[in-house]
Amino acid sequence: MANFVQTLNRHIIEQERLHPKATGAFTALLTDIALAGKIISYHVNKAGLVDILGKSGGVNIYGEKQEKLDVFANRAMVRALVHGGQLCAMASEEADGIIPIPSDYPIGRYICCFDPLDGSSNIEANVSIGTIFSIFKRVTPDGKPGTDADILQPGRNQVAAGYVIYGSSTMMVYTTGSGVYGFTLDPSYGEFILSHENLKIPKKGKTYSINESYIDYWDEGVVNYVRWAKKAVPEDGRPLNSRYIGSLVADFHRNLLYGGIFLYPGDNKSPSRKQGKLRLMYEANPLAFVVEQAGGRASDGYRPIMDIKPTDVHQQVPLIIGSEEDVNIAEDFIQGKRKE
Ligand code: AHG
Ligand code: MN
Ligand code: MN
Repeated sequence: MANFVQTLNRHIIEQERLHPKATGAFTALLTDIALAGKIISYHVNKAGLVDILGKSGGVNIYGEKQEKLDVFANRAMVRALVHGGQLCAMASEEADGIIPIPSDYPIGRYICCFDPLDGSSNIEANVSIGTIFSIFKRVTPDGKPGTDADILQPGRNQVAAGYVIYGSSTMMVYTTGSGVYGFTLDPSYGEFILSHENLKIPKKGKTYSINESYIDYWDEGVVNYVRWAKKAVPEDGRPLNSRYIGSLVADFHRNLLYGGIFLYPGDNKSPSRKQGKLRLMYEANPLAFVVEQAGGRASDGYRPIMDIKPTDVHQQVPLIIGSEEDVNIAEDFIQGKRKE
């Protein structure tokens, strides 16, 4: 560890210098996201004190109730990013279609997709929540507003991704394709300080995270995998520990640090849930980029998440993500290659 304090800003600038054609756009973009993260963090921390809690009365496109903080976080992200000049469009879990850059603002060469507040149903219980983001370079010519073609790119094309987690401390974790770095917010200075250098997820974990209340809706392969995970075979490190927070970003972050697997498979609860619940563009892709950069894997049970060519900005996808060996085993069960 360097014997000086490495701030997020300095780190982003140094990372960008590694790229020969760097323009400074990344530095500006990630700095704007970090600013939104600080603003959201501040409001999340005082959520119990002010009249910002409770339902806003709005319903998002999935028919879910929007918490007031979801609305606030969405606005904070849009405001932080919209006039930076780096983006040609945005997409958010809390907005119906593409969020355009107003015509009087400069238009940039990047796209940002984000889940402004993940785990928001947990806010009132003081459970960790987070903001997840994903950045692509546009594929249409520069200078014009971004289109669906710019947004609907496979995760493999991401140029940066990460999240800000609002937990016992606030952390920003990000990758630009050269490893994963974690920064902890020092609340007294308002600076993100490098705390987790070149994060690597253990090859095999001791934890599985899945909402077991859906067991009656699962396909056989998922049932068999979970039965395998719970079986007492001490010489093999089983049973695995069960840990499910219900905030993807928090379950993911714990597994990234300690090793483990998170699963949100498709199920038969309703026709729309066949494809799972979590969103490809706002949740699965960015965390897949982070986990692969940390040496782990992300799959929909059959193929890597980042190989999926999206057809809809709000597309949902089964997500199996975490330590490499654990994801390999879960895939074998889901594909019916093994039963026990
Ligand atoms: P969001 O708060 O952005 O809508 O996401 C909630 C997600 C995710 O954070 C979590 O892993 C999952 O929903 C929990 O769903 P279940 O309650 O069905 O387990
Ligand atoms: Mn979410
Ligand atoms: Mn959300």
